[in-house]
Amino acid sequence: MSVDQLLQKILKKKALVGIIGMGYVGLPLVIRFCEEDFQILGFDVDSKKVAALKKGKSYLKSIPSSRISKFIRSGRLDVTDDFSRLDEPDSILICVPTPLTEKMEPDLKYIEKTTEAIRDHLRKGQLIVLESTSYPGTTEELILPRLESTGLKVGRDFFLAYSPEREDPGNKRFTTQQIPKVVAGVTPSCKKVAFALYRQTIQKVVPVSSPRVAELTKLLENIYRSVNIALVNELKMLADRMGIDIWEVIEAASTKPFGFSPFYPGPGMGGHCIPIDPFYLSWKAKEYDFTTRFIQLAGEINISIPYYVVSKISDGLNERGKSIKRSKILILGVAYKKDVDDARESPALAIMDLLQKRGASILYHDSYIPVLPSFRKYLFRLKSSPLTERLLHKIDAAVIVTDHSHIDYQWVAKHAPLLIDTRNVTKDMKQWKKKIVKA
Ligand SMILES: NC(=O)c1ccc[n+]([C@@H]2O[C@H](COP(=O)([O-])OP(=O)(O)OC[C@H]3O[C@@H](n4cnc5c(N)ncnc54)[C@H](O)[C@@H]3O)[C@@H](O)[C@H]2O)c1
Repeated sequence: MSVDQLLQKILKKKALVGIIGMGYVGLPLVIRFCEEDFQILGFDVDSKKVAALKKGKSYLKSIPSSRISKFIRSGRLDVTDDFSRLDEPDSILICVPTPLTEKMEPDLKYIEKTTEAIRDHLRKGQLIVLESTSYPGTTEELILPRLESTGLKVGRDFFLAYSPEREDPGNKRFTTQQIPKVVAGVTPSCKKVAFALYRQTIQKVVPVSSPRVAELTKLLENIYRSVNIALVNELKMLADRMGIDIWEVIEAASTKPFGFSPFYPGPGMGGHCIPIDPFYLSWKAKEYDFTTRFIQLAGEINISIPYYVVSKISDGLNERGKSIKRSKILILGVAYKKDVDDARESPALAIMDLLQKRGASILYHDSYIPVLPSFRKYLFRLKSSPLTERLLHKIDAAVIVTDHSHIDYQWVAKHAPLLIDTRNVTKDMKQWKKKIVKA
């Protein structure tokens, strides 16, 4: 199939779109393409996810099953763990994880395995797009040589592009369709077909000159957040020592109509992106004899915040003649941010681990995460405790780590003996001031 034939298939929405990785990124893309009447074939190595999707069931809180089941019923969506079917799609979008190893280095095995599976079934006329976040050079240095080892030539026989995902789970203000998408191809024809494909589903597509530019664009976005979060977190600790409320300062600074974008302090960084992606760049930078000092410093500060939160819990207990040892501490919210069901890399885990090591007995409440699964670094074997008056009377302290919207924090402040607030949700609760500690 030539470029023009593939383009025609895309423009007529006759191209079969394969999406690899049915997670937080892949699943919203599946739905978006289905909504635009494309035929979709989803791939995942996790046969439980495949089985759930085949029954029209979602496993993500942010996506109701009804948004999947209608496309399964109509036959628009098929899902499989059979990777020999990779020769079927005309375009393949790769949305697999890009975590870090124990040594904080890029763990590229998911991209490598996926690329090898695609290589084994690559046929003429296919468009392959990497969506996973990675360092500049991944598309051209890691994926391209493997695919060309088949003897097929990029830009002539198959097409290769990079388009970073900007999904923000739980964000109701911006849908997948509304978030502009940056796209770059390895060759001009690769760019043309990838641009055409996304243009069918996303309101604004932003072409850039090379995959490396697109790869670094995504990292810049996340590093910008990581550095600014670290800055406010550091200032929060200083302001606390000076007896100044950092939240009031940020609110006041935000009235400046230009040159200031507010970032808010919290219990530390969390999620699959901000704590991880910047290190993909610092790792790659070493190849260029370059040390990314801002990234390192932001990482150091953000990693230290759970320790600061624990020191504030200790202070609060101390005021009441208690210690962390033998105290019963309730963690409110273990998701990495509000209103999502994802606890990967959540600062709650680091806080719980530090408290446990200091001899506290830990409970948690998070209706989004009924059971704590095992994580890269932690295993707790805990279930979410029902949030009742009785529970709040039984504990020594409650710590607001995630500010889920459905919780009545007034009621929590009324009944908890001591409340540590890392999110400023108790801002207007003057009547409970004596038992609230901002952290
Ligand atoms: N979660 C976010 O908010 C977000 C936002 C922007 C970008 N990203 C990036 O998108 C990528 C995917 O992240 P995610 O949050 O969707 O991850 P995820 O863990 O939710 O989903 C990844 C899926 O890929 C599957 N998978 C793993 N190895 C596979 C393989 N070899 N073949 C097929 N499927 C495989 C897993 O079973 C899982 O279902 C990462 O690079 C991430 O950095 C994530």
